[in-house]
Amino acid sequence: MLSGKKVIIGVSGGIAAYKTASLVSALKQAGADVYVLMTKNAEKFVGRMTFEALSGHRVITDTFDSEEYIIPHIALAKTADLFMVAPATADVTAKLANGIADDALTSTFIASDCVKAVVPAMNVKMYENPATQENIAKLKSHGVRVLEPDTGHLAEGISAKGKMPEPSILYRYIEYLISYGRDLEGKKIVITAGPTRESLDPVRFITNRSTGKMGYALAKVAAARGAETVLISGRVNELSDNVTNSVLIGEKSVDGVITPIGVKKIEVESAEDMFKAVKAEYKDADCMIMAAAVADFRPDTVAKDKIKKSELSEGAKGSEGNDISLQLERTEDILLWLGKHKKKDLKLVGFSMETRDLIENSEKKLREKNADMIIANSLKKKGAGFGTDTNIITIIKEGEITELPLMTKEEAALEILDEIFG
Ligand code: CTP
Repeated sequence: MLSGKKVIIGVSGGIAAYKTASLVSALKQAGADVYVLMTKNAEKFVGRMTFEALSGHRVITDTFDSEEYIIPHIALAKTADLFMVAPATADVTAKLANGIADDALTSTFIASDCVKAVVPAMNVKMYENPATQENIAKLKSHGVRVLEPDTGHLAEGISAKGKMPEPSILYRYIEYLISYGRDLEGKKIVITAGPTRESLDPVRFITNRSTGKMGYALAKVAAARGAETVLISGRVNELSDNVTNSVLIGEKSVDGVITPIGVKKIEVESAEDMFKAVKAEYKDADCMIMAAAVADFRPDTVAKDKIKKSELSEGAKGSEGNDISLQLERTEDILLWLGKHKKKDLKLVGFSMETRDLIENSEKKLREKNADMIIANSLKKKGAGFGTDTNIITIIKEGEITELPLMTKEEAALEILDEIFG
């Protein structure tokens, strides 16, 4: 979603500058037009050649050294979508906060009116120093986004706050800031995602094949479009930063999801937990999207201790003495409940996953659950359904059926949100 975006990356003289090279590479691979501005000190940590090779443009350090740009800070500043300074040392943070423009990086920053983000990274004492904290507060009051440093191993050998977040996080933050317009600002969207787990005993549970990818894609796009986004998620395979770094731009299909930036995530386990979380969030919501694969049944009793084969009562054993029958009871149908309790202006969206009679079954769900829209997908179609990064969806509204072609789940999320709020 960064294809064609013009991004300026400012690099100042901190040890984390080497990580910024991966960020520039990922942005470039995603199709962004990337320009790097370095301070003189930054060149002591990473050579300009590295950034020139990765970005495909000359690195600008001095306000007057560019052949490409006669007045570089004005030419670049006018056309960029985003300017991120990563890492920002204490010195550069102070300059940016106070309008000091004594080199190409700081001059261009002050001349830009695009989205701006600063990523401070420094020694913990420098970071905690009241002067730095005041500068950070000042930047925020100017509308500059400040990405807080992580706590972790610092160059001086201790573990403390001050470490620059991983390039994958910076990349996702940029995606969050500029992938889409902020047209959903002021809306609250609640999304359920993933499978639920219904316990049998402390060791075992019943679940389904949902990976949460569709719900997480919806949350990512909703947040990036400016909505207050609540993601109520069952247990999913969450990718660690180490993994996301190696698949930085999501080109490779990986088995797992990434919690999107800017989302309030509520983790739940069972259908009952999900129902409670939905009830706590729906009242002031503008839109509820039920993308979770909620278990329809749960064991009617949950054993306190692990069920032992040797301790099964005669009645629980099957005819051979080795089998066991489970008694299941219905869970609450959350979408149905919302359909009964929704206020007039709430947009209620359900999903429907079928293996046969997709349209008829989905239209039935639309009516019976009093939803405004059902997103139907067939498990039989290649590229749709559980675990894939793509989907083939049909959007069903009262008297209207829109079939969409194969697309990524993020593109599908964009279409769904356009349809809801369009
Ligand atoms: N859903 C829900 N609570 C449940 C079961 C389902 O909120 N206990 C929601 C899902 O999140 C989805 C929609 O209902 O948005 C449809 O779910 P699905 O399981 O496909 O359909 P069901 O109505 O449960 O019908 P069936 O299982 O018979 O297909």
